[in-house]
Amino acid sequence: MSAPTHELVRPCMSALRTVSITATGFYVPDRVMTNADLEKIVDTSDEWIFTRSGIRERHIAAEDQATSDLAAAAAQRAMESAGVTPDEIDFILVATCTPDMTFPSTACLVQKLIGAKNAACLDVSAACSGFLYAMDIARQYIACGAKQTILVIGAEKMSSVMDWTDRATCVLFGDGAGAAILQAREAKYGLLTSVLGSDGTLNELLMVPAGGSRQPASHEAIEQGLTCIRMAGREVFKHAVTGMAGAAREALLRCGANIEDVACIIPHQANSRIIQAVGQKLGVPMDRFFMNLERYGNTSAASVIMALDEAVRIGRVQRGDLVLLVVFGAGFTWAASLLEW
Ligand SMILES: CC(C)(COP(=O)(O)OP(=O)(O)OC[C@H]1O[C@@H](n2cnc3c(N)ncnc32)[C@H](O)[C@@H]1OP(=O)(O)O)[C@@H](O)C(=O)NCCC(=O)NCCS
Repeated sequence: MSAPTHELVRPCMSALRTVSITATGFYVPDRVMTNADLEKIVDTSDEWIFTRSGIRERHIAAEDQATSDLAAAAAQRAMESAGVTPDEIDFILVATCTPDMTFPSTACLVQKLIGAKNAACLDVSAACSGFLYAMDIARQYIACGAKQTILVIGAEKMSSVMDWTDRATCVLFGDGAGAAILQAREAKYGLLTSVLGSDGTLNELLMVPAGGSRQPASHEAIEQGLTCIRMAGREVFKHAVTGMAGAAREALLRCGANIEDVACIIPHQANSRIIQAVGQKLGVPMDRFFMNLERYGNTSAASVIMALDEAVRIGRVQRGDLVLLVVFGAGFTWAASLLEW
């Protein structure tokens, strides 16, 4: 083999660039299902649901709305806010555990809906932690110069995997989507670090058992509720608290930051009691956390980006603030990202 006669371009060997979220957006379907509505379906009460989870209502997608539809609506808002055209997007990452179908990826379906013809498309499967996993993948691509403008989406139609006879799960989840545009920025503001972790040995504590290759969807599987969420609630609760607190501490440690430096903590919006327990472990008061789960329930991969978008829009997160995002989900998976807004 002979050496090339000219200087090679080495796109990923340039100095790393600062990566920022330049805009966000979210979308929820119109239909609101309140705790009172759930009282008519299962043996539950507004009082039980609110005291155990902090949730009052959630949005439920229409029958003809799939995850890609929710994702595309959130993406449109983020693109408008960033002033980015569909042609400028060179990568679409969709974090979801409720894809439209096994394949093609939901990201490809979003590409078609928004007309982002120059994008590569990929789904990221890390359940409720998916958005921060996807955002970190995007960060790496932009930091090294391989991509310029990445659309990262967390989107879920959790109602499609809900067993509406199981009161222990159906009261907790909702549908929705959040999107972020990631780009390189000269300014110092941007994503500082991400911590990602998983423990696959605990996969059975939170899963949709059937509908994949191990147990394909069948009449029996559907009758037994195996195409819907199965969850060991108490175990999940315990691991969520330790997983989120651990990831948060590690992210702070890596940046030499103290929890007191963080202006706003945006946690996965699963349950207000989980968030309170994380706050106790980290030694931070609840007013430092941003929560909107009361109105949306647990929207899985969409939750953290929906919360960030809302926190920014209402002024809870300001330019220059140190913001800590921290999530936990099936797998188990967990993640934390520290950023200067
Ligand atoms: C699901 C969760 C709210 C249940 O709260 P809990 O205090 O652990 O309650 P338990 O599961 O021990 O159930 C207590 C009782 O309430 C009952 N119960 C469960 N769901 C109910 C509901 N929606 N309404 C009324 N009662 C309910 C149970 O049947 C049980 O009754 P029993 O004592 O007669 O057997 C809680 O475990 C939790 O939040 N876990 C984490 C879930 C989560 O966030 N998952 C996603 C992570 S990404």
